[in-house]
Amino acid sequence: MAEVKIIYWSGTGNTAAMAQSVADGVAAAGAEAKIIPVENAGAADIADVKAFALGCPSMGAEQLEESSMEPFVEEILGSVSGKKILLFGSYGWGDGEWMRNWVEQMTGAGAEMIEAEGIIANEAPDADAQAACEAAGKALAANA
Ligand SMILES: Cc1cc2nc3c(=O)[nH]c(=O)nc-3n(C[C@H](O)[C@H](O)[C@H](O)COP(=O)(O)O)c2cc1C
Repeated sequence: MAEVKIIYWSGTGNTAAMAQSVADGVAAAGAEAKIIPVENAGAADIADVKAFALGCPSMGAEQLEESSMEPFVEEILGSVSGKKILLFGSYGWGDGEWMRNWVEQMTGAGAEMIEAEGIIANEAPDADAQAACEAAGKALAANA
């Protein structure tokens, strides 16, 4: 069975809830979802996969979480070319700038986006955001 890894960081659970919705979509499409907190992830996790998901809320000032997610992203940047990636995350008072920057960073490194602009949810994901995450999970499974 194809496996899809969903690597995420979440401080207060909103991005974790999005990760679960992505996993639900993966499972609904008949693949196996593996949710991995980024603290437990390494470059080897994505070395041999064609498609995976990365989730992180907007932190700092429109930045990725800096102690775990940012170093992980830097670590994998040289190996994402040609891979299909879903970026997702929650935000608060901003306008999604962190996600625009993140998409630009990953596509600049040659990754292909499962969702062109990533999936963002304001604080806790509402039904629309959950549905978007599930649909993207299905697309990931189809590309795994
Ligand atoms: C230290 C800190 C910095 C934040 N910076 C931003 C920000 O720059 N822009 C924004 O829109 N939201 C910001 N937020 C709000 C979070 O992105 C928002 O609460 C989000 O839902 C948290 O997701 P999580 O539950 O997965 O941790 C910040 C929150 C914290 C705690």
